[in-house]
Amino acid sequence: MWRFLHFILGFIRLYLDGVKVLIYQLFNESFTLPDLPKQNGKVAIVTGGTRGMGYEISRHLVSLRMHVVIVEFMYLDLASLTSVRQFVQRYKAKGLPLHVLINNAGIMLVSERRTEEGFELHFGLNYLGHFLLTNLLLGVLKKSGKPGKCSRIVIMSSATHYGGRLSLEDLQGRKCYSAHGAYAQSKLALLLFSYHLQDKLWAKGDPVTVNTVDPGMVDTALYDNLCGPAQLAKRPFAKLLFRTPAEGASTAIYAAAASELEGIGRLYLYNGRKTESSAISYDEQLQARLWKESCALVVLLKA
Ligand SMILES: NC(=O)c1ccc[n+]([C@@H]2O[C@H](COP(=O)([O-])OP(=O)(O)OC[C@H]3O[C@@H](n4cnc5c(N)ncnc54)[C@H](OP(=O)(O)O)[C@@H]3O)[C@@H](O)[C@H]2O)c1
Ligand SMILES: *[C@@H]1O[C@H](CO)[C@@H](O)[C@H](O)[C@H]1NC(C)=O
Repeated sequence: MWRFLHFILGFIRLYLDGVKVLIYQLFNESFTLPDLPKQNGKVAIVTGGTRGMGYEISRHLVSLRMHVVIVEFMYLDLASLTSVRQFVQRYKAKGLPLHVLINNAGIMLVSERRTEEGFELHFGLNYLGHFLLTNLLLGVLKKSGKPGKCSRIVIMSSATHYGGRLSLEDLQGRKCYSAHGAYAQSKLALLLFSYHLQDKLWAKGDPVTVNTVDPGMVDTALYDNLCGPAQLAKRPFAKLLFRTPAEGASTAIYAAAASELEGIGRLYLYNGRKTESSAISYDEQLQARLWKESCALVVLLKA
């Protein structure tokens, strides 16, 4: 009974958030990118750069003359912490700098599945894989930035985080699983992570900024896992109201390259503007507890 209620509540919350976003998009134009400075010689990694928004972000950064590491060539499976570690090893072996890391890859609403190490897939891939990737690349990011020219981490969250709950005692959804709840939790976890990471970096004066982006509702393959009827219902809305992948990518590109964001971090950006994320995402105790728990889950990191 409780399971069922949990499922229904997660479902309703997610769709209510979706409706709000669609109303916003109906009345508001998509953010238009200002002219961005050329990024000659800078290096970026974009996870999930093969399609959807990741592809558009990569393409745009390349047009700004940034070197974008196409992660596909240097294979990275975020659903495997072993793969994340191997990817970072290979990257470091190349001796390249890293100025921009865009944590974009994600999956949504998959049925209950586990990552290679046994984590719930939304949590493991969307959040924990990026948590480890970012931490392992932090040294390179710090070295590649300097005051006045900070390295940048951009994280793709989502408006679904507003309805998200973080169940620290059941992060893997073993007691109670809903795909909607799991997706929303992973996007909330990314926000809690981004704020805490920025605090840690600033506390040490490291030249790295961290901002989180909500791209809006964007017509991509992310929705392929919706069930049949929802898929049908989505189609007309997607045509009329969803953003295109290029439009959806614009805020992340802005966060990665705009000069007015130099040295500015800890923002939640939506449609090119600073926005409030959910109250719970600013809970510093929760941020610290999730950080500690995540370190324990990926084992090797010191809290
Ligand atoms: N679309 C929206 O309305 C929307 C709204 C809010 C937030 N977002 C967020 O925006 C981000 C991009 O989504 P999108 O809409 O552009 O989705 P998409 O078109 O489905 O692209 C997802 C990307 O993630 C990659 N990916 C999936 N599993 C992976 C894994 N195990 N390891 C490495 N990469 C993996 C995919 O690579 P492969 O092709 O190799 O599988 C693909 O490039 C996601 O984080 C999503 O949660 C999207
Ligand atoms: C349009 O955007 C403005 C500024 O972000 C916002 O205040 C307003 O609520 C939006 N309109 C709708 C209908 O959501």
